[in-house]
Amino acid sequence: MRVLRLPEELASVLPSKGVGFVPTMGYLHEGHLALVRRARKENPFVAVSIFVNPLQFGPSEDYERYPRDEARDLGMLEAEGVDLVFLPSPKDFYPEGYATYVEVTGPLTERFEGAHRPGHFRGVTTVVAKLFHLLRPERAYFGEKDYQQLVVIRRMVKDLHFPLSVVGVPTVREPDGLALSSRNVYLTPEHRKEAAKLYQALLAAREAARAGHSVDEAEAAARAILDTIPDFALDYFAIVHPGTFAPLEDWVPGARALVAGRFPEVRLIDNLEVYP
Ligand code: PAF
Repeated sequence: MRVLRLPEELASVLPSKGVGFVPTMGYLHEGHLALVRRARKENPFVAVSIFVNPLQFGPSEDYERYPRDEARDLGMLEAEGVDLVFLPSPKDFYPEGYATYVEVTGPLTERFEGAHRPGHFRGVTTVVAKLFHLLRPERAYFGEKDYQQLVVIRRMVKDLHFPLSVVGVPTVREPDGLALSSRNVYLTPEHRKEAAKLYQALLAAREAARAGHSVDEAEAAARAILDTIPDFALDYFAIVHPGTFAPLEDWVPGARALVAGRFPEVRLIDNLEVYP
């Protein structure tokens, strides 16, 4: 496994085709490994990036304290048979004078995560566009856990004619349903237990949909659970169109329930397809 840190070193080691690429911010868990394993199965060459991207963190967010463990991450990737790890420093990736940004505009990035984290998606699309240029993948792998991010990246890839397929990989969950996230380590033991209710709320919406209830009733069923979580400030719960993120009045195929909110120590997000 090669480990490279400078953008200009990549070209000489990358094959001209067959690259499967998994972008990450490190502190890897089984959710990341599901992306890597899928990439390993589908591509002759697998590249992973580890970069905590300062551009996608707001000024009051957790950029400085975001968990990092390079040695552990590299050990895990080596064990998965990864070919190349790209691990740039912020100053090599965004050198002094850096002034170019990639932005998907409109409702897709203005709602939900976009409304609660101004500038977040601009940071994500900028880093991912740069990584696509540097790694030139044929396939790139993203978790469905950040579902809005996945849809925003698909939009950017289409709009900018990137010659690659974006592959969405299902969310990996703890046995009690909590979606895996590098930020789960911040949770206090008490809030860790309560955090499973986010998934229970999503399941309640899906059960209501399956039982023939309306979108409003499904939303009410989910909110009834979310309301019982102590110390949890809900940012949003919504049932939306899976492609446009427009809130729904009636069911459409693939309707997706989204939830996000904050315990004092950490913000959590999750989502689930609730209507087939
Ligand atoms: O999902 C993430 O971990 C990040 O947003 C990504 C895609 C690696 C870009 O920094």
